[in-house]
Amino acid sequence: MQQLPVILFGLGGVGRALVRQILDNRNFHADQYDLEIRFLALCDSRAALIEPMEGLHDQQIEEALALKTAGQSLAAHELGGSQDDLAAIVDIAGRPGAVVVDCSATDQTLPALLFGLNRGYKVVLANKKPLTVQQEAYDRLTRAGATPGHPRTLSTTRWETTVGAGLPVIATLNRLIASGDEITRMAGTFSGTLGYLMTGLQEGRPFSEVVREAHKLGYTEPDPRDDLGGVDVARKALILARGLGWRLDMADVAVTGLYPEAMAGLSVADFMAALPELDSHFAGLVADAAASGNVLRYAATVENGACQVGPVAVSADSPLGRLSGTDNLIEITSRWYQPNPLVIQGRGAGVDATAAGVLSDVIELAFTR
Ligand SMILES: NC(=O)c1ccc[n+]([C@@H]2O[C@H](COP(=O)([O-])OP(=O)(O)OC[C@H]3O[C@@H](n4cnc5c(N)ncnc54)[C@H](OP(=O)(O)O)[C@@H]3O)[C@@H](O)[C@H]2O)c1
Repeated sequence: MQQLPVILFGLGGVGRALVRQILDNRNFHADQYDLEIRFLALCDSRAALIEPMEGLHDQQIEEALALKTAGQSLAAHELGGSQDDLAAIVDIAGRPGAVVVDCSATDQTLPALLFGLNRGYKVVLANKKPLTVQQEAYDRLTRAGATPGHPRTLSTTRWETTVGAGLPVIATLNRLIASGDEITRMAGTFSGTLGYLMTGLQEGRPFSEVVREAHKLGYTEPDPRDDLGGVDVARKALILARGLGWRLDMADVAVTGLYPEAMAGLSVADFMAALPELDSHFAGLVADAAASGNVLRYAATVENGACQVGPVAVSADSPLGRLSGTDNLIEITSRWYQPNPLVIQGRGAGVDATAAGVLSDVIELAFTR
């Protein structure tokens, strides 16, 4: 049986769901792919379990999952050693054929990912941050089209879940590009939370009411400004634009958030209390859009060399306009997909769907040179 050695950064919601799915699919992967995934190292923000020779036993992996589910550090495990240098972990734990999987939410993993690539290891990211710092880091991480004679489809890095979670957005983009198709426009909604808000606004509800409801239901981050600011969507837009070969940085993405700068310094409680001040503004935007047969969506648009993120009026008859609720959706317009765009829609978040997307990337790399 082929062994696939894996080093995992991050055992939060996505990382734990990934480990669980790998354990639960052991028989399936053995039967279907003659493949066994072995964990050489599991890392959280403070500690790591390392077993470079055999890989961790399933019992040890279950113990690690139990600790993390209980909110503890891997340092509490008997094998747990402190980790303050992920590249050193990759150095110690790695072996030929290894896949380094980043399910953390920090750009601090970048040096370790590049170290792994230099060693000839493969990389899978659910984490957007290393792909949205300097262009040079993106080029080195993905090698997507950056090296002559190294087509992007042969890249040994996968980052499918960074845009639209498990939805096949990056794979579709790369397939279109590989065929020589010319993508002229990408427009999409990549935040379930903001989709929920836009649906509420379209139903005629006040902005403050929908935000408070989403907050209460746990659909937003504890500080809703982390969603309303649009920065996470901007990272996804940048990854899409860079996927087209555009050379842009985060500063080049024009982001319009859903609250004014003056509300940035308020405490969460004061911000929530001040929300009704924004109601008439958003009611006006919705009414203006409706007057011309449009609806308001919080969209990322990549077109004509520009990358924009914010509330836009789209035709109520378009795929984006017909969308309601928390689904993600992307319209890709190209030479072969116009005037009707290629459309991908579905759940764009959630730890299980995301982990499944990461696992698909890992399995694909098992069979990629
Ligand atoms: N959740 C989704 O629906 C979704 C969808 C698509 C993509 N993603 C992306 O997937 C990633 C993981 O999401 P999540 O929801 O699982 O996040 P999370 O619950 O916040 O987990 C983050 C994990 O990363 C670990 N970590 C932090 N700094 C680290 C470091 N320097 N080295 C190693 N590990 C470190 C944390 O360690 P501790 O346990 O010690 O804190 C934690 O285990 C994020 O980048 C997110 O944007 C998530």
